[in-house]
Amino acid sequence: MRRAIYPGSFDPVTNGHLDIIERGCKLFDEIIIGILVNPDKQPFFTIEERHDMLSEVLKGIDQGKCSVSVDSFQGLLVNYAVAKQAHAIVRGIRAISDYEYELQMALMNRRLEPSIETVFMMPAETYSYVSSRLVKEVFQLGGTLDGLVPPLIETRMKKKMNKA
Ligand code: PNS
Repeated sequence: MRRAIYPGSFDPVTNGHLDIIERGCKLFDEIIIGILVNPDKQPFFTIEERHDMLSEVLKGIDQGKCSVSVDSFQGLLVNYAVAKQAHAIVRGIRAISDYEYELQMALMNRRLEPSIETVFMMPAETYSYVSSRLVKEVFQLGGTLDGLVPPLIETRMKKKMNKA
């Protein structure tokens, strides 16, 4: 039984994240998507909204025999991973620019908790430039998010903006 944590902000989840989850499903029996509760950041969506959206869009991807669930965590990622009895942390790497920061985190996490391995996965080239930050920027400036996020996410972003 191989269990992995896929941690992140997921503010919002993008097609790139979903691509990584699908790929991760081929390697692991179970993936827990851990949304970081970060009191220092002003997110676009609340933790509850992100949790709900992730659960919805996960229904649309190929999970194979893997069991995928959504959760949230605070504090050190490795402590959370140990508490969940996970073997690995999955992170997506899009470009060399991601690698430096991701390597630093992976090595720090290894130092803190040598029993947990970090597994880097590459998304499809189509998503190599997609990030939650750019998705929010394009959206706020009126650009289309077609192909970058599932339609449900764009709808929720529009709803959220109209409420604000
Ligand atoms: O989607 P993001 O914002 O790139 O995800 C970053 C995340 C959640 C993986 C990272 O910030 C994290 O692990 N935070 C938890 C706090 C922690 O463990 N910090 C030490 C990391 S070396």
